[in-house]
Amino acid sequence: KSVLFRHNILFVAVCKLTALIVKRRETLRNLEAFPGPPAHWLFGHVQEFKQDGTELDKVVKWGEQYPFAFQIWFGPFVSFLNIHHPDYVKTLLSTTEPKDDFGYRFIIPWIGDGLLVSSGQKWFRNRRLLTPGFHYDILKPYVKLMSDSAKTMLDKWESYAQTSESFELFEHVSLMTLDSIMKCAFSLNSAFNVRLSSHFSGTNAYIKAVYDLSFLINLRFRVIPYHNNIIFHLSPHGFRFRKAVKVAHHHTEEVIRKRREELKKETELDRIQAKRNLDFLDILLCARDENQHSLSDEDIRAEVDTFMFEGHDTTASGISFILYCLACNPEHQQMCRDEITYALEGKDTIDWEDLSKIPYTTMCIKESLRLYPPVPGIARKITKPLTFFDGRTAAAGHCCICVYLEIWVFDPLRFLPENVSSRSPHAFVPFSAGPRNCIGQTFAMNEMKVVIALTLRRYQLIEDPDRKPKVIPSLVLRSLNGIHIKIKPVDHQP
Ligand code: HEM
Repeated sequence: KSVLFRHNILFVAVCKLTALIVKRRETLRNLEAFPGPPAHWLFGHVQEFKQDGTELDKVVKWGEQYPFAFQIWFGPFVSFLNIHHPDYVKTLLSTTEPKDDFGYRFIIPWIGDGLLVSSGQKWFRNRRLLTPGFHYDILKPYVKLMSDSAKTMLDKWESYAQTSESFELFEHVSLMTLDSIMKCAFSLNSAFNVRLSSHFSGTNAYIKAVYDLSFLINLRFRVIPYHNNIIFHLSPHGFRFRKAVKVAHHHTEEVIRKRREELKKETELDRIQAKRNLDFLDILLCARDENQHSLSDEDIRAEVDTFMFEGHDTTASGISFILYCLACNPEHQQMCRDEITYALEGKDTIDWEDLSKIPYTTMCIKESLRLYPPVPGIARKITKPLTFFDGRTAAAGHCCICVYLEIWVFDPLRFLPENVSSRSPHAFVPFSAGPRNCIGQTFAMNEMKVVIALTLRRYQLIEDPDRKPKVIPSLVLRSLNGIHIKIKPVDHQP
């Protein structure tokens, strides 16, 4: 019996391997039109992605060698078509092709099948449901909340301004953007945040868990056996992953539980909503489809996990690199400061109306997003052949990634309206484009403007040439060695 069992296992293994080899040959044939850098037959290009801060430079270099698009292999069986030409990006992003099922599945145990990952009818329904949560009437009062969170962080920076030492800012900024999304999307005030997450105390369990999860998800791409769910699950990294997922879920479950309690007290509903605007969580919890069915608990949790992560980690990356770019470019920094001082007319806060009065600062923000895109890559699964402008066709079943890294000179004037109109809109897509573009784009731009304006009003940012960031893609763009700058108080006297 056991010999038969072993034979059966062997038979299944041989069949599976044969299928994979056939698939590899087919993929190689399909990608023939898109040559790429030489790949190891077993490892593909994973050895080039060592998370040592050089991988993005390599991708940029390959982009120069292989125009428009090139193939990249993660092991012997998984390949991506990496595209980096605006017209290619346009062709791909204007389709409704689903998110790629190889990479995004690694994130599902954490953020579930929420808006970022879902597809088809479910995505369409939830996107329609959640879009009103980003209407301009809703976003308007957020400016004050964002401004309060930024001020709490900047107060804490006083001590750094008194020394000539540099300090690491990504973690500070993450705490601040987490505070901000908790207040804006989930109406949780700082007092609750303090209790929930030892807010601004320097360490925060949720932020640490997000950092760990991003690292481990990235690791799964690079360690070929970890592509397999069972092997990863049984490994020490899998154990660490589950532990971090538990911490992240505990954080979001607390948020949902608290709101459900509030909403249960029907009599209090009016009082609650008189005190605050309808927020993202109300929309989720009160949503009903045409048959009056509410979203399942699982769906609600997935959306809360998605927005808690997307809503703070992306902006933390964006803001941290913008501050770094301005520290490295003191002349542009001063031009922004002059503009901000003029726009704010002596106020120590920033209002909704002021956001449109700082065009130079906005151009600097965009230029930094171009150089350091917070979401450095996105992927799609092509379900039918896709032909690009140069006549080359990517066959069905292949996955694409777009990475937006090009010219390494900080020049905000690229974003002068006359320069923007002479370029393809798909040459700058930090928020993606087309039907699956970023739903939080305006929220994010507002937050970045608020934080940059209030920071420059108060501090002079100075580069630390001994501690340059080693940039790594880890779901969002991060730095292996943190992002360090020095700060000095701004002298407001004429
Ligand atoms: C600088 C900040 C941000 C950047 C650069 C950014 C970038 C992006 C990009 C590139 C995508 C497409 C991802 C993909 O196709 O896989 C995306 C999608 C998304 N973003 Fe953002 N994002 C930012 C901030 C935010 C904020 C603040 C929120 C929420 C409050 C948010 C929520 C989302 C969601 C839910 C999606 C999925 C949308 C869909 O597929 O319908 N993002 N974002």
